[in-house]
Amino acid sequence: MSSTSAYPDGLSDVSIAGDPLAWPHLAPAPVPHPTTVGGFAALARRVAADRERWAPLVRYDALTRWYARLETGPGYEVWLLSWLPGQGSGGHDHGRSSGVLTVLEGTLTERSLTPGAGSVERELSPGAQRVFAPGYLHEVVNTSLEPAVSLHVYSPGLTEMNPYGTGWPLRATRPSVRSR
Ligand SMILES: [Fe+2]
Repeated sequence: MSSTSAYPDGLSDVSIAGDPLAWPHLAPAPVPHPTTVGGFAALARRVAADRERWAPLVRYDALTRWYARLETGPGYEVWLLSWLPGQGSGGHDHGRSSGVLTVLEGTLTERSLTPGAGSVERELSPGAQRVFAPGYLHEVVNTSLEPAVSLHVYSPGLTEMNPYGTGWPLRATRPSVRSR
């Protein structure tokens, strides 16, 4: 098969202007996305510090838990959740997702269940972060008298949440831990 050039004189946009791929500094910089648990925790801290970004979005719902997706990226999602006093998640896992939970406002109580360590209860103040791997079992409850707000990063995005309802051992077998 013979090849015919659209440019009989041998010129083309590339030959005239140069190959842009040969000049990486001219290409737009790739948007950095976290790829590690530490990167996701840092992303959550950056969002937490940007109060003007998330505070106006927060809503409270006395009938059901309120949540909104704040951001998506390659392989992750960021969710904003609110918790009125007494509201809780119930015991659950996160399917195949890893996650980072960050408290933005108020105080939340997390009860986790880890093989070997049993059930552990933690009081999470603003700025406290919990990082978890796939298969992690926990529940989050607002046991305080004030509303609370939290930020959740999931990687990959949360597609599965298995509830552990009545079988969940809600009573902590260890003293409460205070996390900041
Ligand atoms: Fe969770």
